[in-house]
Amino acid sequence: MTTPSSAYILGLGFHVPEKVLTNRDLERMVETSDEWITSRTGIRERHIAEVGTSSSDLALAAARKALDAAGILPSELTHIICPTLTPDSYTPSTACILEHKLGLNGAMAMDISAACSGFLYGLETARAILALHPDAVVLLATAEVLTSRTNWADRSTCVLFGDGAGAAVLASKPRGDKSVTVMDVLLRSDGALGDFLTIKGGGSARPYALGETVCEDFFIQMQGRDVFKHAVRSMESVSREVLERNGFGVEQVDVCITHQANLRIIEHVGKKLAIPEDKIFVNLDRYGNTSAASIPIALAEALQTGFVKAGDLVLLATFGGGFTWGSALLRF
Ligand code: ACO
Repeated sequence: MTTPSSAYILGLGFHVPEKVLTNRDLERMVETSDEWITSRTGIRERHIAEVGTSSSDLALAAARKALDAAGILPSELTHIICPTLTPDSYTPSTACILEHKLGLNGAMAMDISAACSGFLYGLETARAILALHPDAVVLLATAEVLTSRTNWADRSTCVLFGDGAGAAVLASKPRGDKSVTVMDVLLRSDGALGDFLTIKGGGSARPYALGETVCEDFFIQMQGRDVFKHAVRSMESVSREVLERNGFGVEQVDVCITHQANLRIIEHVGKKLAIPEDKIFVNLDRYGNTSAASIPIALAEALQTGFVKAGDLVLLATFGGGFTWGSALLRF
């Protein structure tokens, strides 16, 4: 059952760290080649945070841009949601740290753990909050320092990820003519498939003892081929479902933005849905896979560059660890 929209994105913003790691740089770190990475993933370079830069630092920069775009003061925020796979710490949450860095206190603040699907999980959570509290102003700030959980000796994963943050400010009523309507969000998960993509080390099921050195399981581990297969299948089906239940045909989609993990996954999803290439926004060549931040970074950049225009129907589709996946429809 669909619900009438009670959520509007008032502003979007993104931030990536300055330092760039190119495929050529990676050639000097592991046995790989620019040709392999480009042809198998579409990624050419990614931005990486300096050691000591945390997810909340990146989230803060993205949040400030989203607040500026929305014309909202930090003090107006009532709720702060931070979807991230790489939180600053177990506790305090990244959301609480971000709240403090914004000079605030008293807001409801929490992290969401839904890996790459974090932005859409956060969007649905924001919709629920806004339905309960129509006067709320929600900051949805995704941020990842994935390089803090990257095994630089594992060529099958280390070439894929980048760091970055993307943020949105949401309210139950539009402000001005630039507000984006969140028309629908549809989320799915299947824990039976969780072992295909993990960061287990340091969790309560895999604790480290004092003085023990971390092992490979401290870092992102992935069965790439299985993730690939499920990502294509899941993003296609959930996109069809969200379009159908809102009465739209695929041909009515003006722009499609999927999770930026692998160009071949994006192309497969586009082909299966019969969405022409020129309607599909891609920026993973410059950022790599930034997990929860990937969709809002793409969304903000697509808007900034004019790829998305006023009036456009935008289809979002995501997939990530858990497995989690989902789709959303926005009207710009
Ligand atoms: N450079 C050179 N060779 C490599 C590299 C590398 N960086 N990495 C792997 N290879 C080799 C492998 O060792 C293998 O060699 P072998 O045949 O001699 O054993 C060969 O390349 C093929 O490996 P595959 O894993 O089959 O390569 P594939 O074409 O599947 O590409 C990739 C791997 C890019 C990881 C792909 O499977 C993929 O993108 N998967 C999905 C990732 C994804 O979508 N993640 C989303 C969620 S991420 C999240 O939630 C955090």
